[in-house]
Amino acid sequence: MVTVAPSAFSRAAELHRSLWGDPALVVRAPGRVNLIGEHTDYNDGFALPMALPFDTVFAVSAGDGSEVEVVSEGFGSVTIRPSVRGHDVPAWALYIAGVIWLMHESGIDSGGWRAAVSSDIPAGASLSSSAAIEVATALAVLEQRSLAWPPIDIARLGQRVENEIVGLPSGIMDQFISAGAVAGHASLLDSRRLTLTPCPIPNDVKIAVMDTGTRRRLAEGAYADRRDACRRASELLGVAALRDATIEQLGALRADHPVEWRRARHVVSENERTLLAARAMSDDRSRELGVLMRESHASLRDDFEVSSAALDKIVEEAERAPGCLGARMTGGGFAGCAVALVESAEADGFGEFVVAHYAHDDHAARVWICDASAGAGRA
Ligand code: GLA
Repeated sequence: MVTVAPSAFSRAAELHRSLWGDPALVVRAPGRVNLIGEHTDYNDGFALPMALPFDTVFAVSAGDGSEVEVVSEGFGSVTIRPSVRGHDVPAWALYIAGVIWLMHESGIDSGGWRAAVSSDIPAGASLSSSAAIEVATALAVLEQRSLAWPPIDIARLGQRVENEIVGLPSGIMDQFISAGAVAGHASLLDSRRLTLTPCPIPNDVKIAVMDTGTRRRLAEGAYADRRDACRRASELLGVAALRDATIEQLGALRADHPVEWRRARHVVSENERTLLAARAMSDDRSRELGVLMRESHASLRDDFEVSSAALDKIVEEAERAPGCLGARMTGGGFAGCAVALVESAEADGFGEFVVAHYAHDDHAARVWICDASAGAGRA
């Protein structure tokens, strides 16, 4: 088992020092794991994410002129011109440039600055590494301008970058929890009201994040495809969003629109499960929460069809481990990580069990036992 040793902070600060001297400002934004409520956020529905003890960190200082110079550990360097939306930047830098361009367009001149960037969030692993970059970039600009934005405004900006600049039609969950999480808590996201309601993680359980070692490839098309199917289902049902549909109503789709029926059945049942899960969590009913997570995985695998052989395998092994109350894939799906709810007393052995029993092609599992972190801020 790999234990969490957050060190992006010291690496980013050190990188800054080696290039430009001491940073004037250090900001961090965490990745997330979603406990339940998957593919619901773009249906105006509910989710229950928490922030991870893995951060993306920007060590920042003022620069000359009007350009932003970013050096990212492992990726290289880029110069961003805030007023020239769409100028050529490498793919990894698009998340940073997108935030800077959109902020500039909305009248927030970021001026010239420079940043050294490090991250402890595995990329492409469904732990929202890109949302964390967006949120950290926005904070770097806001802090330098002495502006304080509520988490939802930061989140919406990050979502616009995904939707308008990167071209992924994702929802609000990842950026919102990265910006607005509360330490020690997951948060019930209501994607229509745009609220996060903190729910304490029960003391008798731990959250385990399990990496299958597989990474997303071309899955973005499948994400957009699921989103389209949900839109078609809500149009056929005559509701504003699938949040407004009931299981009883869905029967009308079954004969003529079997795909839309199954996609909608996942979303409608997942919303119910998520509300039950938030209540179970607040009442310390951990076993019930675990059962709901297990049901969520089956629904994502069979009805929404966004799991994968590797995700199914790691969930299966987790379910066999002593002390596991429930496990499921997390995030967009197709690859990356799963999440398990584990009795605290069994948490150490849990990771070892999953690592010993999981193998998929050449991939080995990594397991982290994670406390829920606070949302983004100055480090
Ligand atoms: C990705 C998206 C989120 C959400 C999840 C699935 O993480 O960025 O908005 O839709 O997939 O729940």
